[in-house]
Amino acid sequence: MTDPAYFDAMYAAGDDPWGFDHLWYEQRKRDLTVAVLPRRRYDHALEVGSSTGVLSAALIARCERLTCVELHPRAVDVARRRLAAAGDRVRVEVGDIRRWRPTEAHDLVVLSEVLYYLDDRDLASVTSWSRTMRDAGATVVAVDFRHPVPEHVRSGDEVHAVLHDALGASMATYRDDDMVIEVFAAPGEQSVAVTEGLAPPP
Ligand SMILES: C[S@@+](CC[C@H](N)C(=O)[O-])C[C@H]1O[C@@H](n2cnc3c(N)ncnc32)[C@H](O)[C@@H]1O
Repeated sequence: MTDPAYFDAMYAAGDDPWGFDHLWYEQRKRDLTVAVLPRRRYDHALEVGSSTGVLSAALIARCERLTCVELHPRAVDVARRRLAAAGDRVRVEVGDIRRWRPTEAHDLVVLSEVLYYLDDRDLASVTSWSRTMRDAGATVVAVDFRHPVPEHVRSGDEVHAVLHDALGASMATYRDDDMVIEVFAAPGEQSVAVTEGLAPPP
């Protein structure tokens, strides 16, 4: 895994080390992420590596409940303050996804800009429980930066190759020079047009 001292140094520099609150790149990435979700509403979403809760705030608008898991206590404090208005609909936990395991059912799993910090064994573990949740009915969405970053264990494209091996083909893909977003739908999930009667089932 990326040395945890990297995250300590990032959060020591301030409460928004990646510029989630002001960069257009980040706002656009969040907007694209929530736009590709195939269902209008989710019951209970899981977001891992949730940082200061900016994407979480966009997700809570689409789900009844949201559980966030984040390594760094400073980020968790900021996220809890940001998301306080949602009350008990949101739970933000300090947790390390190298060891943390889901204990509840989720119908949405969000893996945004976090998997490239993991080594092979931990990435295999997270993709394995994500596949189990997908097979049980969850939508899994993965988002990754595509440019090289020295602190990343692997590139965003390499993360998505691992996800394809574990989860199969994606239902939807957005890719540009900067980012890749993929949606791995639950078995039998139909397109939005088919679901709403605008097109016949294939
Ligand atoms: C680049 S931020 C992504 C934030 C958010 N998911 C987004 O896309 O806007 C990555 C976050 O993942 C967290 N993280 C890194 N490794 C982690 C781990 N093993 N378990 C939980 N969180 C982790 C970091 O502390 C950091 O806050």
